[in-house]
Parts: sequence; structure tokens; C-alpha cells
Amino acid sequence: MSKIMDWVDARFPATKMWEDHLSKYYAPKNFNFFYFFGSLALLVLVNQIVTGVWLTMSYTPSAEEAFASVEGIMRDVNHGAILRLLHAVGASMFFIVVYLHMFRGLLYGSYQKPRELVWVFGMLIYLALMAEAFMGYLLPWGQMSYWGAQVIISLFGAIPVIGNDLTQWIRGDYLISGITLNRFFALHVVALPIVILGLVVLHVLALHEVGSNNPDGVDIKKHKDENGVPLDGIAFHPYYTVKDIVGVVVFLFIFCSIVFFFPEMGGYFLEKPNFEQANAFKTPEHIAPVWYFTPFYAILRAIPDKLMGVIAMGAAIAVLFVLPWLDRSPVKSMRYKGWMSKIWLWVFCISFVILGVLGVLAPTPGRTLLSQVCTFLYFAYFILMPFYTRLEKTKPVPERVTG
Ligand code: HEM
Repeated sequence: MSKIMDWVDARFPATKMWEDHLSKYYAPKNFNFFYFFGSLALLVLVNQIVTGVWLTMSYTPSAEEAFASVEGIMRDVNHGAILRLLHAVGASMFFIVVYLHMFRGLLYGSYQKPRELVWVFGMLIYLALMAEAFMGYLLPWGQMSYWGAQVIISLFGAIPVIGNDLTQWIRGDYLISGITLNRFFALHVVALPIVILGLVVLHVLALHEVGSNNPDGVDIKKHKDENGVPLDGIAFHPYYTVKDIVGVVVFLFIFCSIVFFFPEMGGYFLEKPNFEQANAFKTPEHIAPVWYFTPFYAILRAIPDKLMGVIAMGAAIAVLFVLPWLDRSPVKSMRYKGWMSKIWLWVFCISFVILGVLGVLAPTPGRTLLSQVCTFLYFAYFILMPFYTRLEKTKPVPERVTG
């Protein structure tokens, strides 16, 4: 075995990569619950790719057959229902995991220097993931697939001058048709997965270049032993690989329970109108995107002017990219930041959740007002950040991790 490894190592850095990224990658020893979600995101990514490949074997990307082929997968293909539900529920689980993963970043200032690029690559993954989910949602060719895509693509029509041509270019037709379905299929199955995989590699490479942050926001590289190993670090393998298995088991338990017992999740994971085939002549009574898009959809609807709404929605995502440069705090972790940072993080999270709920519901004047208040607070969190992070009094950060 060692002779084979020597032969490989002389030609390819296999052992070096294993050591650099696993057996000699020293991660802080105080990782907590929130640190499960990076490896879980990887797990869900693999689940989506594997189940996606198998679904593609039985799916037909045409307006005439798409809906029936998904029904065929659910009823006739061996294990087809499990494959499909693992993929469809997997999409929602992906966003739950990624939102918790991002929240950890906010909590412990993981986006701060020197991890700005880790965050920016993460945000690019998030954008690609949203595009991937949006295009995948058209494929079953149900009523919500069709009308959801109709609403979102028509938003591009609000852009002055080029708007109409642009929407036509995206659809490839005067309305959403089999042509749109075909190109979304190509992007969903080939192009975007490649982009996401590439970005995940860049994300992890960028992280391993600078090392992981931790719940204390302490730099573990400051205190090393005589061999250059951080005193507060432990080898990722075997310590965190084994620890992550615990997270994986708990996660799979929850994931499989949903897949087997309540895959629709009350209409939030699989929306009711999507059990009916797409019909260009029949608009569903209430069109709402899937839950993971609804905070941004609520921001869009909060603003009466369509173009301004589209701009606000874009800005709500764009502002996350510059977060590393908005936070001027001398400390990273919320544990040592002042009360203003803590309150604003609460305000931000609560506003985001309320917007998410409002985005599912049909608008009323009262709800629109509430969504305007929450949109204001959402942006205030970011715009005021350079001020409150600089003004507030922080607590002293310990030299070593506290556990
Ligand atoms: C497919 C999606 C993603 C995958 C597979 C992924 C994977 C990972 C992994 C394996 C880690 C190291 C383990 C950990 O710290 O939990 C990590 C760290 C990190 N990720 Fe992601 N990630 C994804 C999306 C994102 C997104 C959307 C963001 C934010 C915009 C993000 C921001 C971060 C940050 C800031 C860290 C460093 C955390 C720290 O050291 O405290 N990631 N990611």
C-alpha cells in the first residue's frame, strides 16, 4: 500500500492534500453546534447531485411530457418516489442548512478580516444556489412552476429600455414555453452544478488558506507549540470528521423523517398548485415563491413602484456581499461585541423571518405596512453597522479560546 502511495505521491499531491486539508489542518477546538452546517451543506450538495443524476434518467424536459414524466417517476420508476422526494425536500433542507451556516458567520464575525473572500465565495454560492433552485422549480411543469417563473422572469421587464427584450431573451419565447423549460433544464442539470461545485472548492480553499474562525473569534495561530501546531487547534481528521458524523446522523434522521412522513411540509416544501399541470390559461389564485425566497419577495412587494421594488430586492442580496467592509468592530464574535450589535442582529433576524412569513401570505394594507417596516429594519442593520460597531464598547477578547 505504501509503495502505491509513494508512486502516486511522486506524480500527484495526494498525501499532501490529505494532510493540508484533513489530517494536518488544525481547526479550533471550541467548534460548537453552528459549525456542523458547513459539512452538512456538503452532504446536501452531494445528495442533490446524486439524486438529480438519477432523476434525469427518467425525466423528459418537454412541455408535453415533463409533468407526466415526474408522475411516472413517483409511481412507476423503482424507488422513484424516494429519489424525487430526497431531491425536492433536499432543496428546502439545503436552504435551511445554508441559512444557519450564514447565521453562524454573522454571529461570530467569520466574514471579518482575513476571511472576506471566504464570505464572498459563500455569497456567490448562495446566488448560484438561488438560480439553481429557481430553475429546478420549473422542471416539474406544475402550475406553481409555471406561474412562479412567469412572475419572477417578468420582473426583468421593469428594467428601462432593455426590459422587454431581456425577458424575451431569458424565456426564448413570447411566453414561458417548452423552450424555456429546455434551457432551464440545461442550466439546472449541467451549467449551475458545475459553477456551484467550483465555487465550493474555492470557498474551502480560501478558508483553509487563512484557517477557521471559532465562537470566540480568537486567532488560534498566535499560540503555537514547538512543532508549529496551534495550542488551541486539533486536527480536522479524525477529531472533526468523527464529530461531524454525529451531525450527519441527526440531520439524516430529521431529513428522512420529512421525506418519508411529511414531504409536502404543509405546502411549504411542495406547494399544492404544483400537483396540477401547468396551464397558461389558468392563473392560480395566489402565487407565492417557495419559502426560501419569500423574504426577498416580500421586500419586492413592499415597494409600490415595480422598478424600485426590483432594485430593493437586488440590493437586499447585494448588501450581504459587502458585509465584511461594513463591520468595523475590533472584535469578531458576538460574545465580545457590545449591546448594539447584539440588538441589531436580533432585529435583522426577526425582520428577515417576518418578511419570510409575509412573502407567503396574500398582501393586505396592514401586511404591506409591516413589510415596509421590516424592509427598513433589514437595510438599517447594514447601513448603520459601520457606526454602531465602531461606537459601542466591546468586551476584552481572551488570548486563548474559552471552550
Ligand atoms: C453549498 C453551500 C456551501 C457549502 C458546501 C459550504 C461549505 C463550507 C465548509 C465545509 C466550511 C468549513 C466548515 C464550517 O466552518 O462549517 C465553510 C465555512 C464557511 N462558510 Fe460556507 N459553505 C456553503 C455556503 C456558504 C454561504 C452561502 C456562506 C455565506 C455567504 C458561507 C460562509 C462561510 C464562512 C464565513 C465560513 C467560515 C466560518 C468560520 O471559520 O467561522 N458558506 N463552508
